[in-house]
This record gives sequence, C-alpha cells and structure tokens, in this order.
Amino acid sequence: MKIAELDTPVLLVDEAALDRNIARLKDMTEAANIAYRPHTKTHKSVVIAEKQIAAGAIGICCAKLGEAEVMAANGIDKILITTAVVGESKISRLMQARTQSHISVVADNEDNIAMLGSIAQLSGMKLDVLIEVDIGQARSGVPPGPEAARLARLVKNHGWLNFAGLQGYQGRIQMTVDADERRSANETGLDKLAATIAAAEKEGLNVVIRTGGGTGTSPFDLDRGLLTEIQTGSYVFMDSRYAGIGWPGANAPPFENSLHIWAAVVSKPVPDRAIIDAGLKAASNDHGPPLVADIDGCVFEYGGDEHGILCMADGGEVPLEVGDKLRLIPSHCDTTVNLYDQYMVVQDDDVVDVWSIDARGRVQ
Ligand SMILES: Cc1ncc(COP(=O)(O)O)c(C=O)c1O
Repeated sequence: MKIAELDTPVLLVDEAALDRNIARLKDMTEAANIAYRPHTKTHKSVVIAEKQIAAGAIGICCAKLGEAEVMAANGIDKILITTAVVGESKISRLMQARTQSHISVVADNEDNIAMLGSIAQLSGMKLDVLIEVDIGQARSGVPPGPEAARLARLVKNHGWLNFAGLQGYQGRIQMTVDADERRSANETGLDKLAATIAAAEKEGLNVVIRTGGGTGTSPFDLDRGLLTEIQTGSYVFMDSRYAGIGWPGANAPPFENSLHIWAAVVSKPVPDRAIIDAGLKAASNDHGPPLVADIDGCVFEYGGDEHGILCMADGGEVPLEVGDKLRLIPSHCDTTVNLYDQYMVVQDDDVVDVWSIDARGRVQ
C-alpha cells in the first residue's frame, strides 16, 4: 500500500530514521562506556523496545505499572518503573508482573517501602528497589543527601527487598534551548546526585545503579560519567520541541524526526484557509501546535477536537486542495502517540508494516 492511500489521521513512523536514531544512541553510549535503558513511555511499543534491546539496551524504563505489565507480558525483560507504585492493589499487580520479567521500581517513601516489602514477601519473590532523589525537578523524590541513604538502608535491611541504586531525573531542563545553560543546570543536578551517592556510600551502601537523564541532557550525562545508565526516551522519534533546542558546539541534533501525523484536507472554504482532519484528538497540544512539514510558511492552528486550520504565514493562498494529504511533525511525541492505536511503518512512499502501540493509554 502507498502512504497516499492511507485513511487519515494516522501516525507514520519512518523505520530507517528510527533505526538510525537507535544506532546513534548505541554509538554514543558505547563510546562513553555507559549503559542505556531507554524510556518506552515515548513509543509504548513492544516492537520498538525489541529493536532497542537488540541494539544493546540493558532493558527498558516504563513510567507506569500498566505499561510495564504490557511489556512484561510480551517478553520484555529488565524493566525499571520510574514512578513509584503505591497501594496494595498496584503492588500486588507489580509482583504478578514480576513473575514474567525482572522488574525494579523506584520509591521515595517509608510506608511505600514497607508495603513493597510485605507484598514481595507474600509473593515469595524479592524485589529490586531504587530510591528516587529530587535533583531539581521538584516533583517526586527525596531531597538529595542523607534522607536517601536512610531510605536505602530501610530497603537494604528488608529481607524481601534489594537496594539496587538511585534515580535522579530532571525533566524540566531537557528542552532548555541554550545548550550551555542546559549543561550547567544538568551539572548542578548531577552534583546533587553525586552528594547523595557519597552519603549512601558513607553509610556502607553500594549504589550499583545510578540512573537518570533524557534526550536533551544525553551528551552531558555521557560526558560527566556519573550515571551508570541513561533513560533517553524521545530520541527515537524526536518532535518539533526537541528539534528546536541547541546542541553542544552548535552541532545539529544527533537524532532526527522519524514520526509524523498524516492528515488530509477536508475543506477549503476560502483560498487562504484549508481545514484538515487532525485537531486536538490527533495532535497533542501540551507543547503547542504541530509543525506542517514539506510546505514552507504553512502554519497549523487548532480548530477544535477534530479540525486543524492551515494558513500561510504571509496570508496567501494555501497550496492544498480538498483531498490532499500532508505530514505534520508532532510538538510532543509521547502525548501524541498516546492518541493512537497503531504506527504505520513507512519506507519512502510505501507502507511496509503496522506496529501496535501496545501500552497506549495504560496510565494506571
Ligand atoms: C523519569 C524519566 N526518565 C527519562 C525520560 C525520558 O526523557 P526524554 O523523552 O526527554 O528522553 C522521562 C520523560 O519524561 C522521564 O520521566
């Protein structure tokens, strides 16, 4: 089938570009001698996770237990859940998924650690726990320093838990446009993680895993060498926000856009306005509107849930007619992917495969 024949709106993945991104991260991490455990919250797809593992990833990250359940049920091993799993029902589900795959989880709370331990004991399986440290995100995570060491000690002393290491992730700075500013903010965060590692080691704890980092900080995380593994997610697809940030030495980003929304013009009531079938339900807007690929000067504006409005920045006629199809570059890949069930895998003008977005909507 040709791309032109696809019903719209639909997500296109350029497999060659995706594979190049996966290969580039492999090369970058190999050169730095640091492992990578890519975050699958971006793509939510078993096929893409398998590609990453085939390219040397030591496992994967999931944001939610529901995502981890899907990955574990499909044979993906060595999963780190990067968000705390809280409450009896969810921890029981976690231990159930743990029967299918090695799963570790972060924690930042004493009661949560106690419950993880008692449910691990009930299930008769030890659970690896990492302590999450707030290194600047001001979200979850204990403050850097001795509190993390105290919780790590609680984990270590529990017969059914293993203290596996520390997680420190700063999402806020991943898209800081200025590369020097981003590097400096990243150093400040990693200094906090280093101080926490020192506090834990002073207590006689061995911090085997030091995990964190994203696509935007990846060059700096790899230079610094404090983390034992990085959690880059968006690098597989990139998006318009990520494409717009600066990279060290004013270089082009090491990763390229491999994800598009394929949409169609459904109305052109006047020459300077074309209406397409992709609105808020087809292109997430938490990072602003998507970009129109391939048509210079053409601008997308949300026209509601089901509609997008295309105009030319210079006010001229939009060079599209009803029935024409076009590509949009999502502004945020993670939240856009979560709107779809499938990727149409493309090579040049052809659709060569269909991949399921297996963990789509698994927010519990
Ligand atoms: C804990 C954690 N690690 C890693 C990532 C991946 O970051 P990025 O998509 O910027 O590579 C995220 C993304 O939100 C995250 O929340």
